[in-house]
Amino acid sequence: MTSIQSLVAQMTLEEKAALCTGASAWTTTPVKRLDIPELFVSDGPHGLRRQADPHAMVSKSLPATCFPTASATASSWDVAILREMGRALAEEAIAQGVDVILGPGANMKRSPLCGRNFEYFSEDPYLAGELAAALIEGIQSQGVGTSLKHFAANNQEFERFSIDARVDERALREIYLPAFEKAVTRAKPWTVMCAYNKVNGTYASESHYLLTDILKNEWGFEGFVVSDWGAVHDRVASLKAGLDLEMPGPKQTRVNAVIEAVRNGELDEAVVDEAARRILTIVCRAAQTPKGGEFDITAHHALARRISAESMVLLKNNGLLPLRDPQHIAVIGRAAQEAHFQGGGSSHINPTQVDVPFAELQKLAANAELSFAEGYTKDGSADQKLIDEAVATARTADVALIYIALPTSKESEGYDRTDLDLTAPQVALIRAVTAVQPNTVVILNNGAPVVMGEWLDGTAAVLEAWMMGQAGGGAIADVLFGRVNPSGKLAETYPLRLEDTPSYLNFPGENGMVRYGEGLFIGYRFYDAKGLPVQFPFGYGLSYTTFAYSNVRLSSDSCLDVDGVTVSVDVTNTGAVAGQEIVQVYVHDQEARLVRPEKELKGFAKVALQPGETRTVSIPLDFRAFAYYDPTYSLWVTENGLYDILVGASSADIRGRATLNLSCTLKLPSRLNEESTIRNWLNDPVGQPILLPIFDELMRNGGMFDGADLGDNAMDMLSFLMDLPLRSFFHFQEGSLTQPPDDITHMLLEQVHGVKQ
Ligand code: BGC
Repeated sequence: MTSIQSLVAQMTLEEKAALCTGASAWTTTPVKRLDIPELFVSDGPHGLRRQADPHAMVSKSLPATCFPTASATASSWDVAILREMGRALAEEAIAQGVDVILGPGANMKRSPLCGRNFEYFSEDPYLAGELAAALIEGIQSQGVGTSLKHFAANNQEFERFSIDARVDERALREIYLPAFEKAVTRAKPWTVMCAYNKVNGTYASESHYLLTDILKNEWGFEGFVVSDWGAVHDRVASLKAGLDLEMPGPKQTRVNAVIEAVRNGELDEAVVDEAARRILTIVCRAAQTPKGGEFDITAHHALARRISAESMVLLKNNGLLPLRDPQHIAVIGRAAQEAHFQGGGSSHINPTQVDVPFAELQKLAANAELSFAEGYTKDGSADQKLIDEAVATARTADVALIYIALPTSKESEGYDRTDLDLTAPQVALIRAVTAVQPNTVVILNNGAPVVMGEWLDGTAAVLEAWMMGQAGGGAIADVLFGRVNPSGKLAETYPLRLEDTPSYLNFPGENGMVRYGEGLFIGYRFYDAKGLPVQFPFGYGLSYTTFAYSNVRLSSDSCLDVDGVTVSVDVTNTGAVAGQEIVQVYVHDQEARLVRPEKELKGFAKVALQPGETRTVSIPLDFRAFAYYDPTYSLWVTENGLYDILVGASSADIRGRATLNLSCTLKLPSRLNEESTIRNWLNDPVGQPILLPIFDELMRNGGMFDGADLGDNAMDMLSFLMDLPLRSFFHFQEGSLTQPPDDITHMLLEQVHGVKQ
């Protein structure tokens, strides 16, 4: 018996039930008698919201560094910097007595309208999984835990506490779960937070399938599952499903319900023991990290600035950037004075300090005259006077910089966006300023894509600066003046119109249910499949230098699926300044039994290059780079055949390719059954040789299908028959058969499966 198990054995039922319910908004229940301490948790994910008073759900929190939010950090595609950010977060947690940080969020960006997208990484599960794993590794390397959230299919805020996300098995496995799967299997988060919503009819908090079958059994998750705050409805059902800790507390009714259910035989005490064991394991692990001390506020602010600069995406540049010694800069937009650097809701941080963008510009533009115009109101109301002032300021300047912040009323936890637009006065401002000043740069502070059709053409440059964290004001200045060469690339597609987005017809649902009708096809998978133009594609971002790709090659032209292959490419910095390039590898399956996206991201690397320098970038591709999830087998499967390995600078800018011949090592039972069509039989390696002789014979002997009236030749006849279940085919042929049709079908199936049907 382990020491944890023996601890559980010493606990009374009452103590165990209490341990499985929070003692306060942010703490678990201690057991003084056994020296079991409380566990202190805090939001997350891009900074600490450590409430001074653990009984308060929302009150002023202790000052902490506000790092850029996930949609920003994702655009860095930089796992090393996420680890570094994780280590810094952990240092702050230790200083503030926090055991577990509630984050990161690994939900997919199904729609750009989701109000909480700023807290999530990407529309692509591979990228989101890599980044979430890196952040977890960074935090946990310091002995502080994480809570990977919100598991699963929490992709909108509308009715988020109850909405039923109807998502088919394949989309769940290939799109909505893999980021969680990678983070769990690779980085081993101490805890996982279940989502509020239902998934296919069952609350995530009561889903045995999600919490136990997949998370704990299939992925081997060893930590505890915590509810999102208030996500539990039936405590006993949730415990049975695998939800170990309910938060927040205190909730004596829940404790009583658990005790009662065990006493009356409804709940096996072993289930409570297991939850207690999991919670205690983490409580004891957390206790090994001594808390207290201080963190280096200045160093963390500097790190936040570096991460922010690394995350910014230069979307457009006609050559104006980096700024070259302008004499007079018109700085427009209230966000230049009042930085918009984080989102609303549970992730809202009380920052240690905030860079004022205007002041940071001034520091780097010592020789320039800077004039300021507010440009737009905070609440989004129209004010022509502000626009007129901005125009007057911009007209006489060398350059105009417009700082645009999407107001919190348009984007926050708790509600979804209703459109992808800037506010009308902001659009009017940009149009008016660009009409008089061609050298206009728009700097965006937002957490998710905005549409730009009304104003993009008039600008000289656009910098996506995101919800950039407390040091973002300085980072913007760094990028504008070329102290940092921008290298971020979009982790999500910028569409031309809301109407083009994948979930447009199925968002946010009605009658308590949202149908994920687009299936696998979210983000670039959708735009690729439809051939739809976008404003800026997934993986896109400009630099102040240029890169050339050459010599794309594979470690082998053929491989077994389990062995995988390594793709290499030579990347050269062909410009005049040092820079970093994010190299992306997509896989295209030339032919598959099931529908597959045109291409999927399966690897990436970020490489730093001096001018003229060339480096070889090598990216391994494993089994999962080629596999799809087959619901018939409930398995990830591959198929023999050719796969294109596409190496690109974005999803829409493929610079080189190679073809791989993959051999599948899986021995899957034949899927032929009574309803299998002739096509199924002819495509099945076991079924084909069994059916062909009989099929041939029947076709030669005529019978009902001699083909005379159905087409010009035998091929037409065959095409006509392809979708007929074999059983029906034999029924049509009954006159020419010597045995009853069903007997023949069963005989063939018996030969295929080796057992009597
Ligand atoms: C949010 C979680 C958060 C929790 C605690 C919930 O409303 O969905 O992300 O960790 O509150 O603040």
